[in-house]
Amino acid sequence: MINMGVNIRGRSFLTLLDFTPAEINYLIDLAGDFKQMKRSGTPHRWLEGKQIVLMFEKTSTRTRCSFEVAARDLGMGVTFLDSASSQVGKKESIADSAKVLGRFFDGIEYRGFKQSTVEDLAKYSGVPVWNGLTDDFHPTQMIADMLTVKEEFGSFKGRKLTFFGDARNNVANSLMVVCAKLGMHFCACAPKELFPAEELVKKCREIALETGAVLEFTESIEQGAKDADVLYTDIWLSMGEPAELWEKRISLLLPYQVNGKVLSMAKKDAIFMHCLPAFHDRGTTVGEEIYRKFGLEAMEVTDDVFLGAQAREFDEAENRMHAIKAVIYATLK
Ligand code: CP
Ligand code: NVA
Repeated sequence: MINMGVNIRGRSFLTLLDFTPAEINYLIDLAGDFKQMKRSGTPHRWLEGKQIVLMFEKTSTRTRCSFEVAARDLGMGVTFLDSASSQVGKKESIADSAKVLGRFFDGIEYRGFKQSTVEDLAKYSGVPVWNGLTDDFHPTQMIADMLTVKEEFGSFKGRKLTFFGDARNNVANSLMVVCAKLGMHFCACAPKELFPAEELVKKCREIALETGAVLEFTESIEQGAKDADVLYTDIWLSMGEPAELWEKRISLLLPYQVNGKVLSMAKKDAIFMHCLPAFHDRGTTVGEEIYRKFGLEAMEVTDDVFLGAQAREFDEAENRMHAIKAVIYATLK
């Protein structure tokens, strides 16, 4: 239940680097409490009368819907603002937009490119700002992911989570941070040129000294999968990266595809996780195009794993909504 010793009211949620392990655990548990309320049909319109705005410069299914449903469940009003139909960025600077939006809304969600944009929104709006994904971080995803891990294993300390793929993307960066904060064993399994940036690794190593976390970086799939409790992967080319990079990324990352063989090298009760969306078949326009150009039926994960008994990506997706509700509530209550 709600930890009375932790209070993050009025804070922005830009990166988990800004939060203590106690605060992160509080959000994960609060997300679990909201999940129970949602499932039992217990009303929780605790923020009635408040208004939030959702700014999206990149596309989204889960994050947008999570914020909208969470806000309505909490009794709040929600406005959606995208870059195509608003003045933001084109005719009005982020600072000016933030000053306007801060007068209308109690909180602002932003998904886009630079981390400095969410930082500026927080600086100039005067209200809590939530990072719905930038090129660097995806912190709301982490609360959902760690709720999923806790539901499966009951605890975090010492659990090994291995990320296969582009280990310097927003999701991998955020996983390294959250694992460091929670005393887990984070392993980046990738070609060296896709290892996380040294500067972030350094920060996480400092955190790990306090929490007992282990950070591992390997190019070996066997080493990455060995003793893993969680096998995690993400798309090989993130939003905002040029499509010309597909060919290079595919040749670098094909050996790191999470398939049945890789899964069989992990612990027996290991689970598979993916933030989604995933290229696990040819059922998307991009997936079909990749098949025609490169002959691949799947990219970062194969169907046997994605549809298999150890897969948890849809529980994870559901948890996005409960996690985002926890973040909104804890910062605005
Ligand atoms: N995982 C995630 O952020 O999904 P969306 O891009 O659909 O929001
Ligand atoms: N790394 C992916 C995550 C999508 C949720 C991207 O940025 O496109």
